Amino acid sequence: MRAVVYEDIHKVRVDDVADPRILDPHDAIIRVTTAAICGSDLHFYNGKAPMSPGDGIGHEGVGVVEAVGPEVERFRTGDRVVMAFDIACGHCWFCLHGQTSLCEDFRNLGAGPFGGGLGGTQAELCRVPFADTNLLAIPQGMDDERAVFVGDILTTGYYGAAIAGIQPRDTVAVIGAGPVGFFAVQAAMLHGAKEVLALDFEADRLAVAEKLGAVPVNVGERNAQMAVCQRTEGRGADVVIEAVGHPSAYESAVEIVRRGGTISVVGMYVSEQVTIPLGIYWTRMLDIRFAGLCPIHAWWDKAMAAVSAGKIDPLPIISHRMSLDDAPKGYELFDARQATKVVLKP
Ligand SMILES: NC(=O)c1ccc[n+]([C@@H]2O[C@H](COP(=O)([O-])OP(=O)(O)OC[C@H]3O[C@@H](n4cnc5c(N)ncnc54)[C@H](O)[C@@H]3O)[C@@H](O)[C@H]2O)c1
Ligand SMILES: [Zn+2]
Ligand SMILES: [Zn+2]
Repeated sequence: MRAVVYEDIHKVRVDDVADPRILDPHDAIIRVTTAAICGSDLHFYNGKAPMSPGDGIGHEGVGVVEAVGPEVERFRTGDRVVMAFDIACGHCWFCLHGQTSLCEDFRNLGAGPFGGGLGGTQAELCRVPFADTNLLAIPQGMDDERAVFVGDILTTGYYGAAIAGIQPRDTVAVIGAGPVGFFAVQAAMLHGAKEVLALDFEADRLAVAEKLGAVPVNVGERNAQMAVCQRTEGRGADVVIEAVGHPSAYESAVEIVRRGGTISVVGMYVSEQVTIPLGIYWTRMLDIRFAGLCPIHAWWDKAMAAVSAGKIDPLPIISHRMSLDDAPKGYELFDARQATKVVLKP
């Protein structure tokens, strides 16, 4: 089959590789019909996370079930499904308590040795372990492009808003108007926010957020704290969703949240550090919720229902539709921020 494979830093290629096979009775093989390039793929592309030449890449994808192992109960050949970016076992203590991203046997699709050596979704075929847990049926009539992000960034944005405890009269500030911020903005509205502010310094990304109904704040031009205070009678945002994953954004979240407010930290951290003045946090009664990796499986039913009902619209984020063979160009554009989201059609 054809698959996107890692070659070297800033180099992926589309290659002929062996078809994946059922290796465990709980596996399914998916014939991918649409995959997408995610910001997390760029960690490998840019050499920040390890990958070996020839490793399959990609963890966002939808397709049709091609084959299932004998123990798979919920899916059969021909079903249209979305794949979860994080692969969980479905039966350990954490999985049974809805914290599937803390699974004892946690893995990631298309993430090299780091993710347990599984193949990627940017391929004609993809093997999904524990298929009953890691696949979600696509509702009848829903197209691929609406369904594909439910396995990752859409549900992540939904989760980031859901854990923030948004109340109907809240002003919510979303820091970062990238793909995750795009879905966090829509989810914050869905959770009843009175007003949603989108903060970024990329004008075109802010324009997309504004189309969704958010108030854009270009932090390259305006002081974030002043802009947020101006819209909240000087208090600050009731809820801040940090959708960047950089200490500057985390510190900005602490600055723009009101006393007694909540911060939901969805942006990903690895080894970054910040200084936490405990007395200030304590006095200001800050409620900080670290999202960790999204436990997709606990939230994707709700996220899919929101897409079905038209309450979350994924389509405005897609800037490029390309064939799988053009993936190297897609990576280049996405890495250069010339594409907001690239989908690939094998
Ligand atoms: N928790 C999870 O499960 C999960 C899942 C997917 C992605 N993520 C993480 O979410 C984060 C966002 O993902 P993405 O794909 O949208 O990334 P992205 O890099 O495409 O978007 C981030 C945006 O933040 C903006 N930005 C950077 N610093 C800023 C600052 N100080 N203030 C305001 N805006 C700032 C950038 O201009 C960019 O538009 C990343 O850290 C990613 O790894 C987490
Ligand atoms: Zn991702
Ligand atoms: Zn588990």
